[in-house]
Formats: sequence, C-alpha cells, structure tokens
Amino acid sequence: MITIKGLILSGGKGTRLRPITFTSAKQLVPVANRPILFYGIEAIRDAGITDVGIVVGDTKDEISAAVGDGKAFGIRVTYIEQELPLGLAHAVKVSRDFIGRDPFVMFLGDNLIKQGITALVEEFRKEGPNSMILLAEVDNPSDFGVAELKEGKVIRLEEKPKKPASNYALVGVYMFDSSIFEAVENIKPSWRDELEITDAIQYLIDRRLDVRSHIISGWWKDTGKLEDLLEANRMILLDLDRDIQGKVNPDCRVEGNVVIGKGTEVLSSLLRGPLIVGENCRVEHSYVGPFTSVHDNVEIRDSEIEHSIVLSGSKITCIGPRIESSLIGRDTVIRRCSRKPRCFRFMVGDSSGIEVL
Ligand code: DAU
Repeated sequence: MITIKGLILSGGKGTRLRPITFTSAKQLVPVANRPILFYGIEAIRDAGITDVGIVVGDTKDEISAAVGDGKAFGIRVTYIEQELPLGLAHAVKVSRDFIGRDPFVMFLGDNLIKQGITALVEEFRKEGPNSMILLAEVDNPSDFGVAELKEGKVIRLEEKPKKPASNYALVGVYMFDSSIFEAVENIKPSWRDELEITDAIQYLIDRRLDVRSHIISGWWKDTGKLEDLLEANRMILLDLDRDIQGKVNPDCRVEGNVVIGKGTEVLSSLLRGPLIVGENCRVEHSYVGPFTSVHDNVEIRDSEIEHSIVLSGSKITCIGPRIESSLIGRDTVIRRCSRKPRCFRFMVGDSSGIEVL
C-alpha cells in the first residue's frame, strides 16, 4: 500500500483573533475545550495516516507542548520549523525533506471538517491523481481562495479575489504528489507577499496535470474569526454526550447534554446543554446556557452566560444581563463592583471588542 504522509500547518500569526493570539497559537484556541488543532490531527489519523509533519513558527514551543511526539493520538510527529510565515506554498517548500517522494495530505491547522477526510484520502490513495482539492460553497468567497469551474472541472484559482468567479472556496485540506515541489519553486509571491498554495495548484492546472476537485457538502469552518469560532463550538457541542464527573448540588437543574469535568462544583444554578464545563471550576447562583464551553479553573458566580467560550482561569462575578456570543480570554476577571461613581472600568488588551447595551 502507498504511504501517504500528513502535513499540518500550524505556523503563521493569528492576527485576526487578537488579543487571544497575542499570547498563544491560534490553532490552540479551544473548541469544546479542546484545541482546534487536535480535530485536524484526529481527522488525519482516522484516514490511516501515521507519519505527520507539523509546520511551526513563533509558537513552536506551545504547539509541541500540546501535541508532544504524537503518541497520545496514535501518530508519529516531526516538527518542521518555518522561520517566517511566508505563505502556505513556502510551508510546503520547507517540508521537502520530511515529505521525500511520498504523496501527502496538507491540512491547515485552523480548519475544522466535521465529516473528516477518510473517504477523500481513500480515493486519493486508490486513484493517485497529482492533486486533489476540496471546495465548499460560501457566502463570502472573497475571504478565501476561490475556484472557477467549467463543466465540473477547476480551470482557475484565485486567492482572496475582489471579484470572485464563483462561491466555491478552497477548503484548507489539499492532497499532493511530489509534482507540487516543482510548482512551489516556480511561483512568485502574491500581492500579500506570500507564496500562495493557490498559485502553486494553478501551476499544476496550467501544465495539465491531474488536479481533481470535490465539492463537500458537510460542515467546514476556517476558524480565523470570532463568529466562526463560536459556530465551530456550536457544531462540536451538538455531538456531546452527557457526562457529569464533578459535584452538582441538589439545588441545581441540569438540562440536556451537559459535560462537567472532575473537581468542578455547581451550586444553586441552571445549566442547559449542549454545554461543557471543564475541571476544577466553580459555578454558583448562575445560569450557563446552551453552546457554551467553559475551560478549566473558571469561576462563575451570580452571572448569566450562553453561546460563549470562556478560557481557563477566568472569573465572572455578578454579571447580568446575560453575557452572550463572547470569547473570554485566559485569567480574565469580569465583575460588577459596588464602588462609586457608577461607571464602567476596563483593563482590556489590544484589539479587543466590547459591546455595551
Ligand atoms: O481556510 C481556507 C483558506 O486557507 C483557503 O481558502 C485559502 O486559499 C488559503 O490561502 C488559506 O487562507 P488563509 O489566509 O485563511 O490562511 P492563513 O494565513 O490563516 O493560514 C492557514 C494556516 O496555515 C494557519 O493554521 C497558519 C498556517 N500557516 C500560514 C502561513 C501563511 C503556516 O503554517 N505558515 C504560513 O506561512
């Protein structure tokens, strides 16, 4: 059987998710309390790929601390350093020694594909085209690489076009054989000064190599922005099974699929799933509503929150009306305080967003 390698791109800078990613890799932002990156690793593993390279940049230490040597996932990980995020095709270039002459699947570390990639990898393995790309219909094609199709075949690809030729976006999963290395050596940097994988695939198309495309109908998300991250969180939480390991006082109501981690205590509260609360949290006199992920060591007291992601170590006290559609960073404190004058008092990082009603 042909060996297919995996290449996960986890370098780059997460500028669109600032300030969360000033301090951390965007691929490690948790969705349903697990780093986004882990879902990609599992999709690759489930497709039968065990030899996986992870391209890393400035946040190398954090990524390797989270993933380790891959044993916990049943794969073998090789870290590949990319000195600067010079583009997805540049990431392929620096991975040449790792890939060798094997075909490979490239997976962008901030992408989530709910149905996985097993069937597609199987087709790639069996039929051996030079490349396979995935497309998905989107409302905002200008934010992506976009494909122009003729009689079901891709004839042109353009990265983030102002006037998109279609609504078909390139999904962040690509399959290549070694012909991609000639392509990445021969393209020029784009208007955003990156070596674009989109241009490298166009190079293959122009040379009439076998580039196949699949339009996927299942759920897919590039989690670069807050609203996408919240949607990803919703999608993953939908599959949650109820699992209560922490202590829930009898004066609480727990409705629907709720996960409560070890060491967590819940008192006088209403929890309505789908919802996950991590380990060693404390929820008191509060409402925590559907589609919320609360990470470890969080305290929520006398407050209401739903459809949100709360990262570890944060404290939310006496906040009502309800917090909604929010991403709250690590070790953040949000509390009502009785000191006069009555006013808002903030200590907020760069590029944050606060909406006050
Ligand atoms: O999500 C799908 C889109 O991903 C495609 O539609 C686009 O054609 C493709 O160019 C890409 O666009 P983005 O602008 O969203 O890519 P981003 O810069 O967010 O990088 C994607 C992942 O690759 C992210 O996990 C960071 C990593 N990366 C990025 C660059 C530029 C690297 O590891 N090295 C890099 O040099």
